[in-house]
Amino acid sequence: MSRNAELLATIRDRAGAKAPRYGLILGSGLGHLADKVEGVAIDYADLPGFPGAGVSGHNPKLVIGQLGGTRVAILGGRAHYYEHGRADAMRVPLEVLADLGAEAILATNAAGSLRPDMPTGSLMLLSDHINFSGLNPLIGEPTDARFVPMGDAHDPDLRAALREAAAAEDIDLQEGVYAWYSGPSFETPAEIRALRILGADAVGMSTVPEIILARFLGMKAAAISTITNMAAGLSDEAISHEHTKAMAPLGAAKLERVLTRFLRSETA
Ligand code: HPA
Repeated sequence: MSRNAELLATIRDRAGAKAPRYGLILGSGLGHLADKVEGVAIDYADLPGFPGAGVSGHNPKLVIGQLGGTRVAILGGRAHYYEHGRADAMRVPLEVLADLGAEAILATNAAGSLRPDMPTGSLMLLSDHINFSGLNPLIGEPTDARFVPMGDAHDPDLRAALREAAAAEDIDLQEGVYAWYSGPSFETPAEIRALRILGADAVGMSTVPEIILARFLGMKAAAISTITNMAAGLSDEAISHEHTKAMAPLGAAKLERVLTRFLRSETA
């Protein structure tokens, strides 16, 4: 029996067999986009291998249907390394996206900014990332496929199309390097100064394992952060998960417009 055969049967039974073109992964406070899809929602609880209740501010459902005229599969919530110490916690959901036929993933997240010119409410397209955690979702993968090249992990064509979509919506889309910090504690000011020297523009606790898994599984990838705070030591602003959830809507509305415009342009 092929990988995840039962999961795929459940999903195709409920949502139809037509392949989604893109898999979208929604970060903290960004779950509303799933409600805009005309399609079928399946609770993660009905999909063994998908994350459990997870983190507040997420919407743990797989939603498959049309958004901006394009067929998408949306992961309304993600598992993070810090929940249970497994960097490969998103492997099954990503495998399912690949098995359903998605050609690319678009990941979103909430992140802290390291740049004074990129304040709370900004959107940042990831030009690249730094794996500051030293962890990897492919540790233990026995095949040679584990040696995934990461030179163009953040796909240049997808990034260009996302930039165009933002411009068409008249939305400022910054671009920069995202550093993955394991969490769940936030960074210290010294860690943020170190990350700045290393070349990071934003910091967060997700996404990088998903980009690695997507490339491993043969899907293209791109990601956008919504900036919910200045990183530790860079402002007097409070840093907390509550604050992240409260600030995510500032960028979320813009992010939804960028993604919807991107998907609409893909149908043309
Ligand atoms: N650090 C790490 N993760 C985050 C932050 C931050 O400042 N803000 C939102 N997610």
